[in-house]
Amino acid sequence: MRGVNTDASLLACLEHAFADPHKPDLVLATGDLVQDETRQGYERFRELLGKPGMPVHCLPGNHDSIEAMQAVLSDAPFRLCGIGDYPPWRLVILNSRTAGDDGGFIATQELENLQQALGTHREGHVLIALHHQPVPMGSRWLDTVGLRNADAFLAIVDRCPQVRAIVWGHVHQASDRLRNGVRLISTPSTCAQFLPEADNFALDTRPPGYRWLDLRPDGTIGTSVVWVG
Ligand SMILES: [Fe+2]
Repeated sequence: MRGVNTDASLLACLEHAFADPHKPDLVLATGDLVQDETRQGYERFRELLGKPGMPVHCLPGNHDSIEAMQAVLSDAPFRLCGIGDYPPWRLVILNSRTAGDDGGFIATQELENLQQALGTHREGHVLIALHHQPVPMGSRWLDTVGLRNADAFLAIVDRCPQVRAIVWGHVHQASDRLRNGVRLISTPSTCAQFLPEADNFALDTRPPGYRWLDLRPDGTIGTSVVWVG
Protein backbone atom coordinates (compact mmCIF):
# COMPACT_ATOMS: atom_id res chain seq x y z
CA MET A 1 0.00 0.00 0.00
CA ARG A 2 1.36 3.45 -1.03
CA GLY A 3 4.61 1.72 -1.98
CA VAL A 4 4.99 -0.03 1.36
CA ASN A 5 4.79 -3.78 1.95
CA THR A 6 2.53 -3.47 5.01
CA ASP A 7 3.07 -7.05 6.12
CA ALA A 8 6.84 -6.57 6.19
CA SER A 9 6.65 -3.12 7.81
CA LEU A 10 4.30 -4.34 10.56
CA LEU A 11 6.62 -7.27 11.21
CA ALA A 12 9.63 -4.93 11.40
CA CYS A 13 7.83 -2.72 13.95
CA LEU A 14 6.81 -5.72 16.06
CA GLU A 15 10.31 -7.21 16.00
CA HIS A 16 11.78 -3.85 16.97
CA ALA A 17 9.34 -3.43 19.87
CA PHE A 18 9.78 -6.94 21.22
CA ALA A 19 13.58 -6.69 21.04
CA ASP A 20 13.43 -3.71 23.42
CA PRO A 21 14.57 -4.47 26.98
CA HIS A 22 11.32 -2.89 28.20
CA LYS A 23 8.93 -5.63 27.20
CA PRO A 24 5.50 -4.27 26.34
CA ASP A 25 2.62 -5.28 28.64
CA LEU A 26 0.00 -4.86 25.95
CA VAL A 27 -0.58 -3.64 22.42
CA LEU A 28 -2.99 -0.86 21.52
CA ALA A 29 -3.95 -1.01 17.82
CA THR A 30 -5.73 2.24 16.92
CA GLY A 31 -7.59 1.21 13.79
CA ASP A 32 -7.30 0.81 10.02
CA LEU A 33 -5.76 -2.56 10.71
CA VAL A 34 -6.61 -3.89 7.25
CA GLN A 35 -7.16 -1.80 4.12
CA ASP A 36 -8.94 -4.31 1.87
CA GLU A 37 -11.47 -5.49 4.49
CA THR A 38 -10.69 -9.15 3.81
CA ARG A 39 -11.04 -11.72 6.54
CA GLN A 40 -7.60 -13.05 5.56
CA GLY A 41 -6.08 -9.68 6.42
CA TYR A 42 -7.43 -9.88 9.97
CA GLU A 43 -6.34 -13.49 10.27
CA ARG A 44 -2.81 -12.43 9.38
CA PHE A 45 -3.02 -9.64 11.98
CA ARG A 46 -4.20 -12.22 14.54
CA GLU A 47 -1.33 -14.54 13.62
CA LEU A 48 1.32 -11.82 14.04
CA LEU A 49 -0.06 -10.08 17.13
CA GLY A 50 -1.43 -13.14 18.91
CA LYS A 51 1.89 -14.94 19.19
CA PRO A 52 3.37 -13.12 22.21
CA GLY A 53 0.18 -13.76 24.22
CA MET A 54 -0.16 -10.29 25.75
CA PRO A 55 -3.46 -8.38 25.55
CA VAL A 56 -4.07 -6.70 22.18
CA HIS A 57 -6.67 -3.95 22.42
CA CYS A 58 -8.18 -3.11 19.03
CA LEU A 59 -10.60 -0.54 17.73
CA PRO A 60 -12.00 0.00 14.24
CA GLY A 61 -10.96 2.70 11.77
CA ASN A 62 -12.78 3.99 8.71
CA HIS A 63 -11.13 1.37 6.50
CA ASP A 64 -11.88 -1.59 8.77
CA SER A 65 -14.61 -4.19 8.45
CA ILE A 66 -16.46 -4.39 11.78
CA GLU A 67 -17.86 -7.78 10.82
CA ALA A 68 -14.42 -9.23 10.07
CA MET A 69 -12.96 -7.71 13.24
CA GLN A 70 -15.74 -9.20 15.35
CA ALA A 71 -15.30 -12.57 13.68
CA VAL A 72 -11.51 -12.73 14.01
CA LEU A 73 -10.47 -10.44 16.88
CA SER A 74 -13.03 -11.07 19.63
CA ASP A 75 -11.25 -13.80 21.58
CA ALA A 76 -8.28 -13.48 23.98
CA PRO A 77 -5.67 -12.15 23.77
CA PHE A 78 -7.61 -9.78 21.49
CA ARG A 79 -10.15 -7.35 22.79
CA LEU A 80 -12.33 -5.24 20.53
CA CYS A 81 -13.27 -1.87 22.12
CA GLY A 82 -14.56 -1.70 25.70
CA ILE A 83 -12.54 -1.35 28.90
CA GLY A 84 -9.08 -2.61 29.83
CA ASP A 85 -8.19 -2.37 33.52
CA TYR A 86 -4.52 -2.15 34.48
CA PRO A 87 -4.73 -0.60 37.98
CA PRO A 88 -4.46 2.23 38.69
CA TRP A 89 -5.04 2.80 34.94
CA ARG A 90 -8.18 2.13 32.95
CA LEU A 91 -8.12 2.08 29.15
CA VAL A 92 -11.39 3.07 27.48
CA ILE A 93 -11.32 1.93 23.85
CA LEU A 94 -13.98 3.63 21.72
CA ASN A 95 -15.56 2.92 18.35
CA SER A 96 -15.65 6.14 16.28
CA ARG A 97 -16.22 4.40 12.95
CA THR A 98 -19.39 5.31 11.11
CA ALA A 99 -20.49 3.54 7.94
CA GLY A 100 -20.04 5.37 4.65
CA ASP A 101 -17.93 8.19 6.12
CA ASP A 102 -14.16 8.46 6.43
CA GLY A 103 -14.75 10.96 9.23
CA GLY A 104 -15.65 9.69 12.69
CA PHE A 105 -18.70 9.82 14.92
CA ILE A 106 -19.14 8.39 18.42
CA ALA A 107 -22.68 7.01 18.68
CA THR A 108 -24.92 8.00 21.60
CA GLN A 109 -24.64 4.53 23.16
CA GLU A 110 -20.84 4.66 22.91
CA LEU A 111 -20.79 8.08 24.61
CA GLU A 112 -22.92 6.60 27.39
CA ASN A 113 -20.49 3.69 27.69
CA LEU A 114 -17.68 6.22 28.04
CA GLN A 115 -19.52 8.11 30.77
CA GLN A 116 -20.16 4.89 32.65
CA ALA A 117 -16.53 3.76 32.29
CA LEU A 118 -15.38 7.10 33.69
CA GLY A 119 -18.01 7.16 36.45
CA THR A 120 -16.86 3.80 37.81
CA HIS A 121 -13.18 4.77 37.79
CA ARG A 122 -13.01 8.11 39.57
CA GLU A 123 -9.95 7.42 41.73
CA GLY A 124 -7.51 6.05 39.16
CA HIS A 125 -6.24 7.30 35.80
CA VAL A 126 -7.84 6.92 32.39
CA LEU A 127 -6.46 6.73 28.86
CA ILE A 128 -9.04 6.97 26.07
CA ALA A 129 -8.23 5.55 22.63
CA LEU A 130 -10.17 6.06 19.41
CA HIS A 131 -9.43 6.18 15.70
CA HIS A 132 -10.32 9.74 14.65
CA GLN A 133 -8.66 12.93 15.83
CA PRO A 134 -10.87 14.88 18.29
CA VAL A 135 -8.94 18.11 17.63
CA PRO A 136 -7.73 19.61 14.34
CA MET A 137 -4.32 18.47 13.11
CA GLY A 138 -3.78 21.71 11.14
CA SER A 139 -3.96 19.78 7.86
CA ARG A 140 -6.87 20.97 5.71
CA TRP A 141 -7.71 17.73 3.90
CA LEU A 142 -7.19 15.56 6.98
CA ASP A 143 -9.32 17.79 9.17
CA THR A 144 -12.33 17.20 6.90
CA VAL A 145 -12.31 13.58 8.14
CA GLY A 146 -11.82 14.10 11.88
CA LEU A 147 -14.22 13.26 14.72
CA ARG A 148 -17.47 14.99 13.75
CA ASN A 149 -18.96 15.09 17.24
CA ALA A 150 -15.75 16.04 19.01
CA ASP A 151 -17.61 18.71 21.03
CA ALA A 152 -19.86 16.12 22.70
CA PHE A 153 -16.87 13.84 23.35
CA LEU A 154 -14.63 16.58 24.77
CA ALA A 155 -17.47 17.92 26.95
CA ILE A 156 -17.49 14.54 28.74
CA VAL A 157 -13.69 14.54 29.00
CA ASP A 158 -13.75 18.06 30.46
CA ARG A 159 -16.01 16.90 33.31
CA CYS A 160 -13.72 14.02 34.27
CA PRO A 161 -10.35 14.96 35.79
CA GLN A 162 -9.31 11.28 35.90
CA VAL A 163 -8.77 11.39 32.11
CA ARG A 164 -5.01 11.76 31.56
CA ALA A 165 -4.68 11.10 27.84
CA ILE A 166 -6.48 10.62 24.55
CA VAL A 167 -4.69 8.60 21.87
CA TRP A 168 -5.65 8.15 18.22
CA GLY A 169 -4.49 6.71 14.88
CA HIS A 170 -5.97 7.75 11.51
CA VAL A 171 -3.66 10.71 10.86
CA HIS A 172 -0.46 8.75 10.03
CA GLN A 173 1.76 11.19 11.94
CA ALA A 174 3.10 11.79 15.41
CA SER A 175 1.80 14.61 17.60
CA ASP A 176 1.70 15.28 21.32
CA ARG A 177 0.04 18.28 22.95
CA LEU A 178 -1.79 19.31 26.10
CA ARG A 179 -5.45 20.39 26.34
CA ASN A 180 -6.87 21.31 29.76
CA GLY A 181 -4.24 19.12 31.38
CA VAL A 182 -5.00 16.10 29.15
CA ARG A 183 -2.30 14.70 26.83
CA LEU A 184 -3.52 14.48 23.23
CA ILE A 185 -1.38 12.03 21.31
CA SER A 186 -1.41 10.71 17.76
CA THR A 187 0.68 7.81 16.62
CA PRO A 188 2.33 7.19 13.25
CA SER A 189 1.34 4.30 11.02
CA THR A 190 3.24 1.05 10.63
CA CYS A 191 2.76 1.85 6.89
CA ALA A 192 3.34 5.20 5.09
CA GLN A 193 3.02 8.59 6.87
CA PHE A 194 1.05 11.71 5.91
CA LEU A 195 2.88 15.02 5.62
CA PRO A 196 1.98 17.16 8.67
CA GLU A 197 0.20 20.50 8.07
CA ALA A 198 -0.35 19.77 4.37
CA ASP A 199 -3.39 21.45 2.77
CA ASN A 200 -3.84 18.63 0.27
CA PHE A 201 -3.07 14.94 0.56
CA ALA A 202 0.69 14.35 0.57
CA LEU A 203 2.92 11.59 1.87
CA ASP A 204 5.77 12.22 4.28
CA THR A 205 9.16 10.61 3.71
CA ARG A 206 9.25 9.20 7.25
CA PRO A 207 9.43 5.41 7.55
CA PRO A 208 6.93 3.16 9.37
CA GLY A 209 6.71 3.76 13.10
CA TYR A 210 5.07 2.98 16.39
CA ARG A 211 4.77 4.61 19.82
CA TRP A 212 5.67 3.55 23.34
CA LEU A 213 3.34 4.61 26.13
CA ASP A 214 4.58 4.31 29.69
CA LEU A 215 1.55 4.71 31.96
CA ARG A 216 3.00 5.53 35.36
CA PRO A 217 1.31 4.88 38.70
CA ASP A 218 1.14 8.62 39.48
CA GLY A 219 -0.91 9.31 36.34
CA THR A 220 1.88 10.82 34.27
CA ILE A 221 2.84 9.38 30.90
CA GLY A 222 6.19 8.82 29.29
CA THR A 223 6.05 8.38 25.54
CA SER A 224 8.32 8.16 22.52
CA VAL A 225 7.96 7.40 18.83
CA VAL A 226 10.20 4.87 17.12
CA TRP A 227 10.72 5.17 13.37
CA VAL A 228 11.62 1.81 11.90
CA GLY A 229 13.54 2.03 8.64
FE1 LIG B 1 -8.37 6.14 9.23
